[in-house]
Amino acid sequence: MARNILLFGPQGSGKGTQGEKLSAVLHLPYIVTGNIFRENIKQNTAIGQTIKGYINAGKLVPDQVTNTMIGERISQPDCHAGFVLDGFPRNLVQAEALDAIVPVTHLLHIAIQDQSAIQRIAERRTCVANGHVYHLTFNPPKVSNVCDVDGSELKQRDDDTAAALTQRLTIYHQETEPLLGHYQKLGVVYTINGEQAIADVWKDIQALFA
Ligand code: AP5
Repeated sequence: MARNILLFGPQGSGKGTQGEKLSAVLHLPYIVTGNIFRENIKQNTAIGQTIKGYINAGKLVPDQVTNTMIGERISQPDCHAGFVLDGFPRNLVQAEALDAIVPVTHLLHIAIQDQSAIQRIAERRTCVANGHVYHLTFNPPKVSNVCDVDGSELKQRDDDTAAALTQRLTIYHQETEPLLGHYQKLGVVYTINGEQAIADVWKDIQALFA
């Protein structure tokens, strides 16, 4: 049976930090809405031009754009055995669009407090080539400002400002968090304590798939 896995949690909960490892271990494609959008902005595509203002202000990209993009991506042959999807759905319209395509088998809810999110995002750095994630205190690169994996420069994301983060957390609590009720009814929610160290969060996630 396909494993259709959602990574779910507030900003800074560690979805990106854990998601790449999980997809590698399970041999499933890792699909990150935020990374796809940021790549479109970097390449200055038509979609990138449309969505840049939303992303940098911390607002959701319109559902029509997002649902079309994810619907097309998860219909590709490499997703037949499943996928690890990070950043989708974020509201009920998106959840219903996903339900119409595939059943979700696991929702990994990585739970943290807003105060931790604010602290983590302030010191997050991501690599310009592939979006690999670091933290200046909790997960620093081996060489300052250089990605361990691909050697590219590390930068702060354009939407990691205090104002945009406040907006993103507000939308998370108002529109995204209530989806837990929708998926609890389907019996697929697994909540993980995201306040633990990165290695301990990873152990808890691995245990679900042992
Ligand atoms: P997206 O890129 O998905 O950002 P996000 O949801 O805001 O999540 P983050 O990337 O901020 O956090 P994360 O949980 O991945 O944390 P990370 O692992 O980096 O979306 C960006 C934007 O795109 C949205 O605002 C929206 O505009 C648009 N968008 C995306 N999806 C959309 C959708 N479905 N519909 C409409 N619009 C959409 O970790 C954070 C930091 O903490 C790192 O520095 C890390 O090293 C550190 N860290 C991680 N875990 C730990 C730990 N356990 N202990 C200590 N430090 C830790």
